[in-house]
Amino acid sequence: MITSKELRDKWIKFYEERGHVNIGAVSLIGDGSTGVMFNVAGMQPLMPYLLGKKHPAGTRLCNVQGCVRTVDIDSVGDATHFTFFEMMGNWSLGDYFKKEKTKWSFELLTEVFGFDKDKICSTVFEGNDAAPRDTETAELLKGLGIKEENIFFMDKSNNWWELEGTVGTPCGPDNEWFYPRHDTPCSEHCDINCKCGRYVEIGNDVYMQYKKLEGGKYAELENKNVDTGFGLDRLLLFLNGLDDGYKTDLFSGAVEYLEKVSGKSYDNDGNARKAMRIIADHTRTSVMLIGDRNGITPSNTGAGYILRRLLRRAIRYCRNLEIDSEHLTGVAKVFIEQVYDTAYPLLVEKEEYILEEFRKEIKKFEATLAGGMKEFEKLVTGIERKNEFMSKSDPSYVPQKEMAGKQAFRLYDTFGFPLELTVELAKERGLSVDEKGFEEAFKAHQELSRAQAAAAKGGLAERNEITARYHTATHIMLAGLRRMFGEKTEQKGSNITEERMRFDFNCDHKMTQEELKQLEDFVNGVIARGIDVVRTEEPYDKAVATGAYGVFNPAAPDEIVSIYTIAGVDRQICGGPHAKNTAELGKFKIVKEESSSSGVRRIKAVLQ
Ligand code: ALA
Repeated sequence: MITSKELRDKWIKFYEERGHVNIGAVSLIGDGSTGVMFNVAGMQPLMPYLLGKKHPAGTRLCNVQGCVRTVDIDSVGDATHFTFFEMMGNWSLGDYFKKEKTKWSFELLTEVFGFDKDKICSTVFEGNDAAPRDTETAELLKGLGIKEENIFFMDKSNNWWELEGTVGTPCGPDNEWFYPRHDTPCSEHCDINCKCGRYVEIGNDVYMQYKKLEGGKYAELENKNVDTGFGLDRLLLFLNGLDDGYKTDLFSGAVEYLEKVSGKSYDNDGNARKAMRIIADHTRTSVMLIGDRNGITPSNTGAGYILRRLLRRAIRYCRNLEIDSEHLTGVAKVFIEQVYDTAYPLLVEKEEYILEEFRKEIKKFEATLAGGMKEFEKLVTGIERKNEFMSKSDPSYVPQKEMAGKQAFRLYDTFGFPLELTVELAKERGLSVDEKGFEEAFKAHQELSRAQAAAAKGGLAERNEITARYHTATHIMLAGLRRMFGEKTEQKGSNITEERMRFDFNCDHKMTQEELKQLEDFVNGVIARGIDVVRTEEPYDKAVATGAYGVFNPAAPDEIVSIYTIAGVDRQICGGPHAKNTAELGKFKIVKEESSSSGVRRIKAVLQ
């Protein structure tokens, strides 16, 4: 048995012995520069360095990085899908390349982890117009002792790694490592292509030497980099000869806890098992998101809404397990105190805060859950009765199989049911939900509220809201400029109308197209993350000492000033007003960059 703690240590030690510096993990919440809400891969925070920027820790790096992927949240409940996982990574930034990397991955697998070299399979890129066939890696693998029949050339859909939907990011062909879970092939053709699942991918070495351009094109990078990712959760399962991720030490404590409080058996009761998996997975991810250094809390927009969905789904499954949803805090405690205490000490520090956020959300949702379930039951029974009655009286009647969007919206609006909760509940009763109709009802409702708010404030509300959004955009943009050009960058002037913002700042050159794009992406990334803009009051000297930016607002040391914080992005001394959440800003677009005076540049931008 190898524990998760041992596995993390082994990974780091192996690469440290080969000259790598452990750079530790970054926040799980995306930094805004990539347009994604959460960190989805170990390489994500390293993108600028893979593109050529010098990394302060050198050219050989390693770490274990938490990642959150919620795209297949619906698959959670089976044995191998999780919304949070840890990726063990190492990188060469223009340092070593294929020769060393293949050797080290091979050594790690065979010597440290005891994999049988005759069973290891590897896939390499077969080549296309953008990049050549990777015979070099194949030859190296053979030289190490991997059987020729276990090396497979595959196309771009298998052996090319890039972040979906993003341009300007590093990417390249990869070499993936596979191993069979057992020695009994399902047929004579049972190899890594077989659907039976005997072969499992255990890791990935990406030879990141390209940059993704518009229109499916690629440009060669000056640096030849290596980007490695081995999933800790997956490898742990494999190294312990298990085929259920919830049996590893990452989850066994949570499952035991749930078995104890529910009196149900994980092994013998399929429904209970599914509920326990969902509760455990969603609780773990929620703990990580709330306890992160840029931690978020449940809300109705952006990343906060994803968190809310996770928590509410977990609460709902407590009902399936017939336990009080307060027990989620018990599960959270197991993760904080027993599983991630050494790898994520911040969770231990923030434990009370995390548990309190759980309690608040549980209280909020429980207050309406019973009413919502009743309402749901009424709606579904209504449809079922109608179908029954109509089919009896009219043989050609086609039974209604869909719940109306308006009904799903009512469950959302009045009872706080996230749409997918309704979809999931409806599915259990053989019904689908008109999701398009839900979106329409949602929009109509938003417009109505806006119009009402505007009317209530004699038309002023709308105007103030628009300029407040622009004002918030200037904060985010300045934060982006300071990240790109350094702390010396300061605001030199700003002018906001309902139509646009104008912003002056010191800068010694005309910004390039690439820089403008980077800045736009940064601002839009922060918008996409839906971060709350929080106002606090603090004495001026304390605000400055804790990193608030406030060149424009000097004050006496003990004078109480107003500070606007966009967590993880910006903290400024400022009178406001601002948007409540960055998600309100829409889409940020730079329309002009020009000189304002000597050493001062001017940007005009709009929110669309
Ligand atoms: N970036 C590569 C992955 O996520 C290593 O698989």
